[in-house]
Amino acid sequence: MRAARTSKVAIIGAGSVGATMAFATLMRGTARHVALYDINTAKVRAEALDLVHGVQFMPPAQIEGSDDIEVCRGADVVVVTAGAKQKPGQTRLDLAESTVGLMRTIIPQVTAVAPDAVYVMVTNPVDVVTRAALAISGLPPNQLFGSGTVLDTSRLRYRLAEESGLAAQNVHAYVVGEHGDSEIPLWSSAMIGAVPLLDWSTTHAPLLDAASREAIATEVVEAAYTVIAGKGATNYAVALAGVSIIEAVLRDENRVLSVSTLIEDYVGISDVCLSVPTVVGADGAGEKLVPPMTPAELTGLRASADRIREVLRGLGF
Ligand code: 2OP
Repeated sequence: MRAARTSKVAIIGAGSVGATMAFATLMRGTARHVALYDINTAKVRAEALDLVHGVQFMPPAQIEGSDDIEVCRGADVVVVTAGAKQKPGQTRLDLAESTVGLMRTIIPQVTAVAPDAVYVMVTNPVDVVTRAALAISGLPPNQLFGSGTVLDTSRLRYRLAEESGLAAQNVHAYVVGEHGDSEIPLWSSAMIGAVPLLDWSTTHAPLLDAASREAIATEVVEAAYTVIAGKGATNYAVALAGVSIIEAVLRDENRVLSVSTLIEDYVGISDVCLSVPTVVGADGAGEKLVPPMTPAELTGLRASADRIREVLRGLGF
């Protein structure tokens, strides 16, 4: 086990996701030092300035913003949000080539100044970007992983909480696979309170019957498109999902999160990054849990892996 981490978080990219993540990190008192890095000098300085103007109203923290990668030196956690924005009508996978090119520039620079940090990739298509960043950095897979379907899982839990009238914290259900169109919810292992979700539909008929589950799954997959159509980007929920991952690392929480990690020999899937329930703590991504899955869920997860692998092959990984 490594020594206890301090709490410097470096965020690469001061766009709407990066800046909102800095704000959420500060508001929650997650870190004592937040560094924002972006090549857009005016933007990164302005975002940092806007944040420092609020220090009186947040837990104490040092805030810096710079176009010099040195600002990330010694970070305990580095979150990578830099990349092209998904335009209305574009899928996350459409962004793959340009984003991987960007990672070839950024990753060597930041790993040189923060070699011991845990890296959380958020840039889309996150599963492809995570696999590429692992190859580019040479870091071990526990130390570099992606935010994956942590956000999709939250979207699913929100809808199930709404349908059941219970707190989202009492809904245990995971979205696995690609953070994107081929992702799938694992209904067969989902629990509402202490009740298996598949039983909930019989005891609370017709809530969460097969047709409702199908509609919810579609809503979750399309959630980002819906938000992007209305406001051009998603930022709040993805930032909060990112902060929950940062906290799991800095506080060594061993939380089970559906982060995107390198998968080797997991229900017959290998050599691809995708999300499955994974223990996240001070060393980064740890054990991957294997929930019981129906044949249809297994088929869905394997198809999702194939989809990501196809894009990776096209990019030479
Ligand atoms: C999201 O799911 C676009 O990946 C981003 O909100």
